[in-house]
Amino acid sequence: MLRPMEWKSGKLRLLDQTRLPEAEVYLELEDYREVASAIREMRVRGAPAIGLAAAYGLVLGAQKLQTPNRQEFLSELAQVKEELSATRPTAVNLFWALERLWQVAEGEPDPSSLKARLLEEARCLEVEEVAAEQRLGEYGAQLIPDGATVLTHCHTGSLATGGYGTALGIIRVAHERGKRVKVIADETRPRLQGARLTAWELKRLGIPVMVIVDGAAGSFLSRGLIDCVVVGADRVAANGDTANKIGTYSLAVLAMENGVPFYVAAPWSSIDLSLPSGSEIPVEERPEDEITHIRGQRLLPQGVGVANPAFDITPHQYITAIITERGVVREPYVTKLKELISG
Ligand code: MRU
Repeated sequence: MLRPMEWKSGKLRLLDQTRLPEAEVYLELEDYREVASAIREMRVRGAPAIGLAAAYGLVLGAQKLQTPNRQEFLSELAQVKEELSATRPTAVNLFWALERLWQVAEGEPDPSSLKARLLEEARCLEVEEVAAEQRLGEYGAQLIPDGATVLTHCHTGSLATGGYGTALGIIRVAHERGKRVKVIADETRPRLQGARLTAWELKRLGIPVMVIVDGAAGSFLSRGLIDCVVVGADRVAANGDTANKIGTYSLAVLAMENGVPFYVAAPWSSIDLSLPSGSEIPVEERPEDEITHIRGQRLLPQGVGVANPAFDITPHQYITAIITERGVVREPYVTKLKELISG
């Protein structure tokens, strides 16, 4: 299984996603600040992968702390947690993973065990995440008809997750179960996650894929060329409103207009029941040069205004079903998601 990261000899080894598909470059990170930069610069990206990287970042931060005093240790660790939390605001997985480790730190009375306990918990999160993705994939694959053409947006495969994938994990299970699935991948401006990463991963898996520009999706949907849309999520609010890569909302509206099912694949770590609706989800604004430049080459005239929201919110009424490792839920999400808490 292709893995976005690996804990090895006290370091975090990350596959630099900004270099793909041209080069497979691994970064060896020893300092939590390097992890924070890697998340901010999207060398590691995708909601579950961001959460796991942050968890290992906290472990790296803890390992450098010298104090034998438990209170001092916790207050220095809180600073590390804060810096890691400030990297990207939308994917709730980041805060969820840091909080899981923080609970372990606070609950551990023996200061000499703290570092080892944090590492153990980070490893545990990674194992749980992969298992969740595999279960989610099994549930989701049942919704994909044999011979289906599936439209997806951004990148939700191994590298964006614990290692199996969410929306792409569903496609992967369907393919492994013998269903003849074809994928149409939006290129996903401005960072081209679809063109660079979805296409790269699906090619490796032997799943047929064709890349289209984002603006072509409506035309494909209206011509009856798509059987279903499956996307991932950065955060799902209690009412089912979903934050995902910019362009997802347009796809959802176009899917409904054309009578095509629109599925969101979200592990439980992406669900935030503390927010009643999508309007409370913070949407990251990324640097302007992601739009003004491609590989250092300026595209726009100087002085032209640019807006670069990295995510949008799809209102729940456009979502046919949300697929989690605890089951598949449909409207009314506000009650159905809560029912899964105990699952
Ligand atoms: O800005 P990115 O590339 O981190 O955004 C990623 C997405 O929007 C994904 O669809 C989402 O995180 C789900 S990844 C399983």
